[in-house]
Amino acid sequence: MIETKNLTKHFGEVVAVDNLSLHVNRGEIYGLLGENGAGKTTTLRMLATMLQPTSGNAVLAGYDLVKNPEKVRSSIGILFGGDSGLYDRLTAAENIAYFGRLNNMSELLLQDRIRELTEVFGMEEYIKRRAGKFSKGMKQKAAFARSIIHNPDIMLFDEPTSGLDVSAIRNVHEFILDCRSQGKSIILSSHSMSEVEKLCDRIGIIHKGKLVAQGSIAQLQEQHQGKSLEDIFIEVAGGGK
Ligand SMILES: Nc1ncnc2c1ncn2[C@@H]1O[C@H](COP(=O)(O)OP(=O)(O)O)[C@@H](O)[C@H]1O
Ligand SMILES: [Mg+2]
Repeated sequence: MIETKNLTKHFGEVVAVDNLSLHVNRGEIYGLLGENGAGKTTTLRMLATMLQPTSGNAVLAGYDLVKNPEKVRSSIGILFGGDSGLYDRLTAAENIAYFGRLNNMSELLLQDRIRELTEVFGMEEYIKRRAGKFSKGMKQKAAFARSIIHNPDIMLFDEPTSGLDVSAIRNVHEFILDCRSQGKSIILSSHSMSEVEKLCDRIGIIHKGKLVAQGSIAQLQEQHQGKSLEDIFIEVAGGGK
């Protein structure tokens, strides 16, 4: 479960996230849809304990974000778009283990879990090779494994498909759906209508840091005379508004 309550972040004069309140159930994919600068990354960075909220709070997997950030940190997996962030000079297994240790996993559990994920993602041939020479696909699988090494209840995805080619996008989508089938609570930020329509159980449209519409696609359409998601988006969060 994820529950945010009036979550707010100011950067000087800029209100990046403005009293955001939302909840995400177990086994649910919540799509945070917004244009560039809407406040998606700032929201996810606060939930990931990388940024302190200016005001408001959240509860993730039963832990209070402000009072107990370390517990929150060990309950979430993060996959942010862009570079995979693997260390070139470490092997895939070392990269994954490094993250597991940051999450206070025991060596025994860590090694078991690396074996399990090596099989899940078919990484047997390269798990002990240095990441620097990996293909994009190999890096992607190692990054997936790294994000779930500690079997978190919650997954945060920040525009995880931006800049990827079609088959890499497909891999990310399958990974997100696998996370859902394992009962994780998931937030996926995106500016792609088709991506959120394909994957999300519920959607929140964020504009200038505020949640301006929320619901399943069917609910949103019911509230907006049966319009397409794109038309709804333009209406509530479009251009110069
Ligand atoms: N570290 C920062 N310092 C100052 N302003 C920031 C910082 N990070 C984000 N912002 C501003 O906060 C707003 C929301 O940004 P962001 O959360 O990155 O949006 P999104 O991810 O939806 O594109 C933007 O106006 C952005 O310029
Ligand atoms: Mg962003």
